[in-house]
Amino acid sequence: MGRNLYLKWSIYMIMLNKEFIDTLSMRYVWIDGELIPEEKAVVPILTHALHYGTSVFEGIRAYWNADDAELYIFRARDHYARFQNSAKIMGMRINYGIDDLVRATVELLRANGFREDVYIRPIAFVSANTINLDIRGLRVTTAIIAIPFGRYLEPKGVRAKVVSWLRIHNSMFPIQAKVGGIYVNSVLALIDAKNSGFDEAIMLNRDGYVAEGSGENIFIVKNNTLYTPPTYDSILEGITRATVIEIAKDLGLNVIEKRITREELYTADEVFLTGTAAEITPVVDIDGRVIGDGKPGPITLKIRNYYMDIVHGKVDKYRHWLIPVY
Ligand SMILES: Cc1ncc(COP(=O)(O)O)c(C=O)c1O
Repeated sequence: MGRNLYLKWSIYMIMLNKEFIDTLSMRYVWIDGELIPEEKAVVPILTHALHYGTSVFEGIRAYWNADDAELYIFRARDHYARFQNSAKIMGMRINYGIDDLVRATVELLRANGFREDVYIRPIAFVSANTINLDIRGLRVTTAIIAIPFGRYLEPKGVRAKVVSWLRIHNSMFPIQAKVGGIYVNSVLALIDAKNSGFDEAIMLNRDGYVAEGSGENIFIVKNNTLYTPPTYDSILEGITRATVIEIAKDLGLNVIEKRITREELYTADEVFLTGTAAEITPVVDIDGRVIGDGKPGPITLKIRNYYMDIVHGKVDKYRHWLIPVY
């Protein structure tokens, strides 16, 4: 074989190999009933949702249990119920029911063959190419994306800042809907906290009471009782929040939903954040005030451990919250 021909042949073999490797590592996403390679899932520049935030979304986790060799999706039906409600509030029509979306999620996770913890991002967005604000009757595309995912916040505890951006009030925006556009409020809050050297933001509401984190609900512990802001205080009604309220009883803990002031945060025995991504994250410092003894508190850790057992399918009582993938 001549030198040139050999070179050409080698390059061809390398390209072939790369294509083969790409196929092996290809991730699929689900879009309107079809599984397609992630890199083909792109949107045109005039897509309505890109300009106006006209999307609704969810964040769901699936946990890998090595002992059971099983991947469990946590509270998928509750997430898809909230997804449907978000779309209803926005006047967007999703053409899939809760059962369809759960089935699609299982299909997607199987197609990707995940054997690790996964974050699932369902999104429905106004996909028509128009600058018109009137979204009535416009096309809505529904997609589900899943990515391997570990910790979102440091489980050993975060330092939080009460930022000057307020949580958008219920009267200004349907805060119970997880709408893409509203997340600029969270983005501004988080970069404010990060720019000041903190890990996470805590937002107050219009009335000056504690609302929530940039993507988490908040709980304080005082004298062995849990307190969390009520849903009318401009918070997203988190599924992890609801989970903590339900499972706290098993640990002999009382939960009270009540308005929380900033000084109650500073003087709490323990503070923790809850969210699908954040799970149960201790807060060890707020605005430079050390919370408790500056370490994750015993009640926070008890709840966190119990929660992690539940999501991994180790607590029979709550297995109805899990959907096995394999
Ligand atoms: C603003 C906000 N609050 C609270 C939460 C926690 O909600 P969940 O526990 O349902 O994930 C989230 C996350 O979805 C969020 O984005």
